Amino acid sequence: MPDTVTIIDNRTGKQMECPVLTGVMGPPVIDIKHLYKELGMFTYDPGYGATASCKSAITYLDGEQGVLMHRGYPIEQLAEQSTFLEVCYLLIHGELPNKREMDEWEAGIKTHTMTHEHLSRFYTGYRYDAHPMSIMGGVVNAIASYYHNTTDIQDRDQRLITAKRVIGKMPNIASKCYRYAVGLPFVYPDNSKSYVENFMNMTFSRPCEKYTPSPVAVRALDLLFILHADHEQNASTSTVRLAGSAETNPFACIAAGIATLWGKAHGGANEAVIRMLEEIGHPRNIQKYVNRAKDKDDSFRLMGFGHRVYKNYDPRATIIRKACHELLVEMNLNQPMFEIAMELERIALEDEYFISRKLYPNVDFYSGLIYQALNIPAEMFTVMFALARSAGWLAQWMELMEDDEFRIGRPRQLYTGKQIRNYVPLNKRP
Ligand code: SDX
Repeated sequence: MPDTVTIIDNRTGKQMECPVLTGVMGPPVIDIKHLYKELGMFTYDPGYGATASCKSAITYLDGEQGVLMHRGYPIEQLAEQSTFLEVCYLLIHGELPNKREMDEWEAGIKTHTMTHEHLSRFYTGYRYDAHPMSIMGGVVNAIASYYHNTTDIQDRDQRLITAKRVIGKMPNIASKCYRYAVGLPFVYPDNSKSYVENFMNMTFSRPCEKYTPSPVAVRALDLLFILHADHEQNASTSTVRLAGSAETNPFACIAAGIATLWGKAHGGANEAVIRMLEEIGHPRNIQKYVNRAKDKDDSFRLMGFGHRVYKNYDPRATIIRKACHELLVEMNLNQPMFEIAMELERIALEDEYFISRKLYPNVDFYSGLIYQALNIPAEMFTVMFALARSAGWLAQWMELMEDDEFRIGRPRQLYTGKQIRNYVPLNKRP
């Protein structure tokens, strides 16, 4: 049996054989590269729900089974046994590091935790109440100007240095987005600390008192960074790949990813979940909001619910919900919103509307509750997501740059505009 599918244009009888490409796991794909040349047609797939944009060996998702793996390692095992910095290495290099490699990797990241002193002036151009995602995107894009003519993106070693620069600097930038908003002086990185401890010190320390982050909080944050590191060809990763396909400066590609992640349909959902839970306010109000989410005439959607790929539980949500419960117990915190969230989940998952559409809690449904327990304000939640996801964006960008089928991304369209017509001078128009 040939590994092909036959496409027949029933209007003309013309047909073509398209190769079927099979990956290591997951659905095979139909290679339609020559469809337009052979049959004079495009495919049509708004939102790319059935479109494989690339080959990738980094992350595998099975939405039906609720499976997420990075380089073959199940997310549950990485969450339990790894660290964010080790997952960054895994995503980029494809293998877990040995002790020497990990030490070298950590040392390499630490040489890039500082940002140019002039960059600190950049923050002050923002309004005092600017959303930190706007600041983060602007600052990351500005860093492109510091490494524009000195980075040869065709050179793998320089791409790797870029990856270390971004991973090293994101905690510095994220902490400054927060400190600028609350009027605190910026804190320099302290490379004697671990990656997450360094971030927490830059973010939460006060000049007038000693600061030591709680080990429980450090572990919880490291876990959240692991769970947000990469997720196949999601909207922001696809943005980074499309920008990268134009051979754009990699910092500008990451800034484009930050812009896309900010949307509440994507990474901005974690902040939107907390706003939604605050608005619900009490378990007795839940049904009213569930009814609104089901009402086609109401634009309200249940934030943190549903996913383009997961038609089962998002495995990250399961891990985060457990970690959230454990954190609240360990920190002896009573968080009413956690109770509201669990009751909302229970009610929604018993409702035919959500069951029939396979709408389950996603990664954003519980993550905000952990960030909140760690005293991270809601407007910073997506900044945290971007800090972690920059590792995945970089791994995907590096894979794109090494792809033997590399070419600029340029989708087509189904034109629904006017037929050709002649220009009418202003004085002759009705
Ligand atoms: C992330 O892609 C990724 O991997 C993303 C991410 C990552 O790690 O990168 O996992 C991170 O972005 C998670 C998603 C965070 N967003 C939200 O929680 C926002 C709320 N969710 C929805 O906006 C929605 O579910 C999306 C955007 C996540 C998915 O949209 P789809 O795949 O286009 O789904 P759809 O709009 O086709 O929905 C199918 C049906 C529709 O109803 P019908 O037209 O069939 O009657 O389900 C309904 C939708 O109206 N629906 C919802 C809903 N989500 C879908 N109804 C109420 N509340 C919701 N949340």
